[in-house]
Amino acid sequence: MPNVEAAPYSEVTIDAATLHAFVVAIWQAAGSEPREAKLVADHLVEANLAGHDSHGVGMIPRYMRSCREGELKLNSHAQLARDAGAVLTVEGARGFGQVMACEAMELGIERAQKLGICAVGLRNAHHIGRIGHWAEQCARAGLVSFHFVNVAGDPLVAPFGGIDRRFGTNPFCAAFPRPGRAPLVLDFATSAIAAGKVRVAFNKGIDAPDGALIDRDGHATRDPGALFGAGEHGALLAFGGATAGHKGSGLAAMCEIFAGALSGGFTSRADTIVTTNAIVNCMLSVIVDPAAFDAPDLQREADGFVHWLKTTRRVDGVDDVLVPGEREDATRGARGAHGIPIDTESWTQIVEAARSAGMPDSEIAKYRAT
Ligand SMILES: NC(=O)c1ccc[n+]([C@@H]2O[C@H](COP(=O)([O-])OP(=O)(O)OC[C@H]3O[C@@H](n4cnc5c(N)ncnc54)[C@H](O)[C@@H]3O)[C@@H](O)[C@H]2O)c1
Repeated sequence: MPNVEAAPYSEVTIDAATLHAFVVAIWQAAGSEPREAKLVADHLVEANLAGHDSHGVGMIPRYMRSCREGELKLNSHAQLARDAGAVLTVEGARGFGQVMACEAMELGIERAQKLGICAVGLRNAHHIGRIGHWAEQCARAGLVSFHFVNVAGDPLVAPFGGIDRRFGTNPFCAAFPRPGRAPLVLDFATSAIAAGKVRVAFNKGIDAPDGALIDRDGHATRDPGALFGAGEHGALLAFGGATAGHKGSGLAAMCEIFAGALSGGFTSRADTIVTTNAIVNCMLSVIVDPAAFDAPDLQREADGFVHWLKTTRRVDGVDDVLVPGEREDATRGARGAHGIPIDTESWTQIVEAARSAGMPDSEIAKYRAT
């Protein structure tokens, strides 16, 4: 079992613009058209900037493998499977999730601006990454949104009271736009921690946090190898732990039904599960125009509420009570100014992926990490 915090691991630092250019170059070398390569780079680098390294450039090796295995279809576009006015069903056809979700949100935003509300069921997209990215796309258009997502091919989480993997890390996200300021963005996996964070811990050789993992017999463990090691596998737990795990487990189950079934896609049950190495996501997004409500004081009321939260007395050691999205904003500021840290194991894997896409070392060397 890897050692706790004491385990040494090294990292490199790279500025966001250089990293973005590297990711664009990697996907263009792999065969993506320029717009696709840019959308993928926007998404992955933005995830790193927001502090969610689990959904940042460290995903590139896995995406490259899916691409090689024919499970990720480059240069595909979202297809409107059914247009029922305020309800749209969109087929993702295993195309790049960063393109599929962007195009599905474009369709939903346009419809919500016209009708006041739109529900978009996106199915069968390759990994759509950090869900906050899609909520932020809606927020930039002035729209409220909430998103239920399932991971159709990757059951890693045991339901409350169970031992076996039954559903994915199924994220939930909700966002509220604030003109002239960053939106409020709540965005989390319904598992105790995101699977990518267990992968990062595995690569760093450190333990996962307490209460997140069980081994194959259902016993608590901190070994990230329970998920990513060779041999017999354990499972992640839903958020909420031993006392409140029914809440995370229940929300994860509703994500399966709303995202996987309502979109005409797949849930993670054995009969319909997507059995490939690729990560396949389905997402139900409900996009609402706040201007359609009779709420002229909406922003003032929301601001007043945020102030009310922040003026509570605080427990020892807490400097500020954060609202959803605030931690990501702070990380964005710091990493934008000082660069993005990437553990060397992940960096090595990314460079290997670049080579496998056909980038020569002389080209790779242009994208310097220190
Ligand atoms: N595409 C997929 O299949 C998939 C699957 C799982 C997770 N994800 C993504 O993984 C990412 C990480 O998920 P996670 O569960 O590790 O997130 P997390 O546990 O870091 O929680 C993030 C949320 O909690 C808020 N938050 C963090 N610290 C806070 C504090 N001190 N006070 C108040 N609010 C705070 C953040 O603003 C954010 O809304 C998400 O972006 C999610 O969309 C994607």
